[in-house]
Amino acid sequence: MNILVIGSGAREHVFFNQLLKSNAQISLFSINPNAAISKFTKSYYIEFNFYNLKKILVNELINLVLVGPEIPLIDGVYDFIKSDPDTHDIIVIGPSKRGSMLEGSKDFAKGFMSRYNIPTARSKSFTKDTYDKAIDYLKTQSPPFVLKADGPAAGKGVVISHNLNNALAVLKKMLIDNSFGKSSEKVVIEEFLTGIEMSCFVLFDGKNYKTLPYAKDYKRIGEGDVGLNTGGMGSVSPVSFIDIELKKKIDTQIIRPTIKGLIEEKIDYKGFIFIGLINVNGDPFVIEYNVRMGDPETQVVLPRIKNDFLEILLAIENQDLDNLDLDVDNNHFVNVVLASEGYPDSYTKGFEINGLERVHDSIIYHAGTTLKDNKVVTNGGRVISVVSSSDDFKKALLSSYNSIKKIGFKGKKYRRDIGFDL
Ligand SMILES: Nc1ncnc2c1ncn2[C@@H]1O[C@H](COP(=O)(O)OP(=O)(O)O)[C@@H](O)[C@H]1O
Ligand SMILES: [Mg+2]
Repeated sequence: MNILVIGSGAREHVFFNQLLKSNAQISLFSINPNAAISKFTKSYYIEFNFYNLKKILVNELINLVLVGPEIPLIDGVYDFIKSDPDTHDIIVIGPSKRGSMLEGSKDFAKGFMSRYNIPTARSKSFTKDTYDKAIDYLKTQSPPFVLKADGPAAGKGVVISHNLNNALAVLKKMLIDNSFGKSSEKVVIEEFLTGIEMSCFVLFDGKNYKTLPYAKDYKRIGEGDVGLNTGGMGSVSPVSFIDIELKKKIDTQIIRPTIKGLIEEKIDYKGFIFIGLINVNGDPFVIEYNVRMGDPETQVVLPRIKNDFLEILLAIENQDLDNLDLDVDNNHFVNVVLASEGYPDSYTKGFEINGLERVHDSIIYHAGTTLKDNKVVTNGGRVISVVSSSDDFKKALLSSYNSIKKIGFKGKKYRRDIGFDL
């Protein structure tokens, strides 16, 4: 079976690793991979667009495409492959363009949640034409104010402001000055919710679903969850405070209505659903949907699944998830991310990474790395995920922090407090 994974970060490194463990005969293909992925895949170094994608699909007789990042999904990669007679037999793990709107448009997601009574922050959406109404609405709200650019903005489209004048300025920047381009042509203003966030991942085959282990990620750059938002500086799974009662509420109030909505609206959806949740005094609310696995959570969620990963993907394709029993590792998995100095603002890349071969107690997943003169060098803001597991949470953390000491590169930055709040 010829499998192409779209995407080249740590999440995709996990996908490839899980596929390598499969008992099936598999050949793996990648596009613009990082240093680790390039070692065990046939790699294409090309501009990613659908035209180039089709050439690879056809030339390599690809049987299955697993889509990692959101942008190709939002751009309609599923529909592109399925509507072309040359490629329509290829299995695509990832939702259709319409399904991807759950992530691609926060306004669409809000409408969806309201249609199926899924608990989420109260909100209203505005455009340039209703700018005056947006100002009036904002003035009736109390701080903190939450403003969200409707479209994809690489994690930078949400602004939380504690002061009305500042919030009004952000509103103007988004709606009038188009500070996020097309993505901020619509803005969602929503009520601020207070609580701890948690990550829920669901496999969906169009009919049946399976919930993957819960995770918690650490989004801010600074220790104690302060400073700028990042793609994620660490993650843990399982999450101690998510007990059976909370899981039940999430299942009945959120996951089931989400699945019901997707089926009722006849949305083509075979893939992963990420539900970003917040626990408000014991009640779960949805912060957002993503239509794919998340990074850095994938690094602690998927390695806990002991099933053959290809069998899971084929169960999704064959709408057979109900007959799949997930075999979950009950150990604690933790992930500490090593980043480049300056990240999430500007940073320099190209620094040699050494010591990776001395790490034995953790699994290293590459994010922004590449090969230069046969050496592994930094090539992104987030560089490496250091993942460890143990039946003891603290031991798992200690393993990752010990492994980190062995890895060196200029400007290596990481949070020293991953998991310490738990
Ligand atoms: N209604 C809300 N109340 C409190 N915090 C929020 C709310 N909406 C978003 N946030 C915070 O902002 C972050 C980013 O928002 P999110 O909707 O997940 O957008 P994105 O991931 O696309 O940037 C969330 O992880 C959360 O910390
Ligand atoms: Mg988010």
